[in-house]
Amino acid sequence: MFTILVANPKGGAGKSTLSTNIAGMLASTKQRVVIMDLDKQQSATNWLSRRPGMLPKIMSWNEQTDMEELRTFAPQWMVIDTHARLRRADRTYLLSRANCVLVPVNPSVFDIEATAKFLIKLHADPNVQSGKVAIGMVGSRTDSRTRMAQELNNFFKRSGLPVVMFVPDSVVYPQCARDGVSIYDLPASRTENQIEAWLPLVNWIREQLNRSRTAGVPETAVDVAVQPGVVQIA
Ligand SMILES: Nc1ncnc2c1ncn2[C@@H]1O[C@H](COP(=O)(O)OP(=O)(O)O)[C@@H](O)[C@H]1O
Ligand SMILES: [Mg+2]
Repeated sequence: MFTILVANPKGGAGKSTLSTNIAGMLASTKQRVVIMDLDKQQSATNWLSRRPGMLPKIMSWNEQTDMEELRTFAPQWMVIDTHARLRRADRTYLLSRANCVLVPVNPSVFDIEATAKFLIKLHADPNVQSGKVAIGMVGSRTDSRTRMAQELNNFFKRSGLPVVMFVPDSVVYPQCARDGVSIYDLPASRTENQIEAWLPLVNWIREQLNRSRTAGVPETAVDVAVQPGVVQIA
C-alpha cells in the first residue's frame, strides 16, 4: 500500500478534511483505499459510516476493523489521518511506514508557529533525512486574496518544502464531511473550482508514487502495517 501520512500538531488544521478528500479522490479513480484513523474523535471513521453505499468503497482501519475483510479488500493505498498529539515514538514509527507526508496548515500565526516546530522534528527524522519520505505543505481553507494567505505562503517558502496546494475556504468541505462524500463524489457543476484547485495535489501524489517506485522504496503490506494499538490513538 502506498502510504500517505497526514499530520499537523494543531487541531482543526484540516487533517481529516485532507485525508477524506484524498481517499475520495483515489476511490473515484477505482483505487482501493483504506483510511487508518488514529484520532479517537474518529472523524474519518464516522465520515465513512455516512458514506452512501453506491459510492466506491473506502475502508476505515481502526480497532474494530475485521482484518480478514481488510485483507480481502486488498487496499492499494493507505491514508493515515492522525491526531494533534502524536508522540515522538509514534511519529518515528509512522514515518518508517509512510511513503510521503502532507502537512496541512491554517493561515493563522498560531498554526504557523506550531507547524514550524513540528517541521523541525520532521526534518530530524532519519526517514525524512534519507529522502525516503517526501514532505508536502498544504494551505488549509485559504482565501488567496487575504494577507494571512500571503504570510502562509511566505512561511512555506522559508521552509524550503514544496507547496503542494492551497485548499480554498469553501462551505463544500463541511458539507462533504456531513454527507460522507468527497468533492470527487459531487456533481461537477458544484465542485469545478475545487477540482481544479486539487489538481496540483493529485499530480504531487502521482509524482511521489513514481519517485518511490523508481527508487524501489518498499510499501507497507496489510499484515505488517501500522496496527491501531501499536500507535497510540489519542
Ligand atoms: N477548506 C475548508 N473550507 C472550509 N472549512 C474547512 C476547510 N477545511 C476544513 N474545514 C473545516 O474546519 C474544521 C476542521 O477541519 P478538520 O479537517 O476536522 O481538521 P483536523 O482533522 O486537523 O482537526 C472542520 O469543521 C472542517 O469541516
Ligand atoms: Mg481530524
